[in-house]
Amino acid sequence: MTGKFLSFEGIDGSGKSTQARLLTEALRAAGHIVCLTREPGGSPGAEEIRRMVLEGDPDKWSAETELLLFNAARRDHLEKTIRPALARGEIVITDRFADSSRMYQGLTRGDLRAKVDALHALMIGVEPDLTFLIDIDAAVGLSRAVGRAGKEQRFEDMGLALQQKARAGFLALAREYPLRFRVIDGARAPDVVANDVLAVALEHLSRR
Ligand code: ADP
Ligand code: TYD
Repeated sequence: MTGKFLSFEGIDGSGKSTQARLLTEALRAAGHIVCLTREPGGSPGAEEIRRMVLEGDPDKWSAETELLLFNAARRDHLEKTIRPALARGEIVITDRFADSSRMYQGLTRGDLRAKVDALHALMIGVEPDLTFLIDIDAAVGLSRAVGRAGKEQRFEDMGLALQQKARAGFLALAREYPLRFRVIDGARAPDVVANDVLAVALEHLSRR
């Protein structure tokens, strides 16, 4: 794989999608070819799985089934979108990747971290070169996320206590993988956050 693989992580409403888009625009303006993608989803098959996972009755899947569905989606995303783009030498920017499974299926929506890691090793086996954790107060993230209407509500009624656990869980992942994680303070205006993100990304890209 010759391109660069960047991911954004954080709790719902942290500003990940906004920052992934702003970084994509800034890098394209600087002349880079960027593949902007997301999970769950990012390929036609994975987008089908996304609808199965994120819409409908909150109790329709167990944590174990969800873990398998997220991995099925990730495998398709990797085969159809991520690996081909990296092979073309592009910068891949994904809004969520395997750290979201470590966090949600591993810690808040399930207690399956050992299974998350085993499945990842077996079926995915790839980590981003660089992961931005957009860190935000749990209550702020929740109020931003609740402000968005839509059909994808299965996961968005988690409540403040779980959002706080998720924030702490992501910060713990950043300590677990210090070489690839960068924690960014998301409690500032979007363009201020974006400037920080771009500086880190450019420094990383200049290392190639
Ligand atoms: P995520 O992808 O992490 O769920 P989004 O980027 O979709 O978050 O942002 C959630 C909501 O918060 C959106 O309405 C977005 O416009 C708003 N938002 C994003 N970043 C900021 C920020 N830095 N300050 C205030 N509001 C923001
Ligand atoms: P996303 O669309 O990123 O939601 P948001 O923009 O609100 O952050 O992700 C949808 C939900 O899917 C989110 O609550 C996190 C969850 N998720 C997992 O539980 N495991 C995973 O592996 C992934 C990729 C996402």
